[in-house]
Amino acid sequence: MNPNRHLMTIDEFTIYQSRQFSQSTGELSILLRDISLACKLINKQVNKAGLVDILGAHGAVNVQGEEQMKLDIFANEVLINVLRNSADCAGIASEENDDIIVFDDAHSLQSKYVVMFDPLDGSSNIDVNASIGTIFCIYKRVTPLGTPCTREDFLQKGNKTMAAGYVIYGSSTMMVYATQLGVNGFTLEPSIGEFCLSHKDIKCPVDGKIYSVNQGNTNKLDPKLQSYLAYCMENDKETKRPYSHRYIGSMVADLHRTIIKGGIFLYPADSSNASGKLRLLYECNPMSYIVEMAGGIGSTGSQPILDIMPTELHQRVPIFIGSKNMVEKALEMIS
Ligand code: AHG
Repeated sequence: MNPNRHLMTIDEFTIYQSRQFSQSTGELSILLRDISLACKLINKQVNKAGLVDILGAHGAVNVQGEEQMKLDIFANEVLINVLRNSADCAGIASEENDDIIVFDDAHSLQSKYVVMFDPLDGSSNIDVNASIGTIFCIYKRVTPLGTPCTREDFLQKGNKTMAAGYVIYGSSTMMVYATQLGVNGFTLEPSIGEFCLSHKDIKCPVDGKIYSVNQGNTNKLDPKLQSYLAYCMENDKETKRPYSHRYIGSMVADLHRTIIKGGIFLYPADSSNASGKLRLLYECNPMSYIVEMAGGIGSTGSQPILDIMPTELHQRVPIFIGSKNMVEKALEMIS
């Protein structure tokens, strides 16, 4: 192997970025390293899913009334345990837990960050070998250092995000994360067990040709949304329609494609789900932060996702997200 390697690991990259700020304490870099460690452990288990008796419904029902798979529980526990041992995490909120978990040992009480995550998104895809993912975001707490963190630290607007990211367990495993300095992607190099910089300074194309939605819900949508979907399917040479339709049912996978290739992803409100299906804190905020830092848009249809002041840990919101021009067109048609 050439010792003058060109590979840059995620740790080297976060350290390089933090050196650009004189006040940086390196705590955010440590948290990102810990999250990447947890995701490597999850990845190992995801890769074995077809081989061991860890596949299938676990029988328990999560706080949204959905059946949990064993891998969801595994991923949740790994993230909680790694972050509990982290030097810099005061507490977590997870899509799989009813309430926040406070880390109240003497060291964690002094930590200035809290982390929210969806440990394994798209879990209905596990037993068909399609891509699934982990989504996370990091906030600076608002309660005083030295005290236990509270719900107030988690119920912050998305525009207060310090860093957000996802890991996609797909044909290769990739971690993409965003800070105010931009969005970068790291592919897991299995031979050294490290995420290595592979997609530098990711920008979401301003336009695209793919729309991503559960089209089976069309009859439950309001007429304006139905017209928008009809517009996506219409033949128009000038606007290069009809668009292609792609929908895996795993937000991380559908949005990863949207960010890289351009497109729009939507999960609107419908007659069965007045606020849509996806969760503000664990899915919509982190994904909107990443997409906006890459130059795209994340909206509920009437306001930017990142401007919402959350009122509940498990709040749901409608979402229209992706390439700037495509989301703007959708918003114009449904307003
Ligand atoms: P889950 O983790 O329970 O499988 O939910 C996945 C989420 C999200 O990732 C995806 O975009 C959406 O739910 C799919 O929902 P529908 O099956 O209703 O389309």
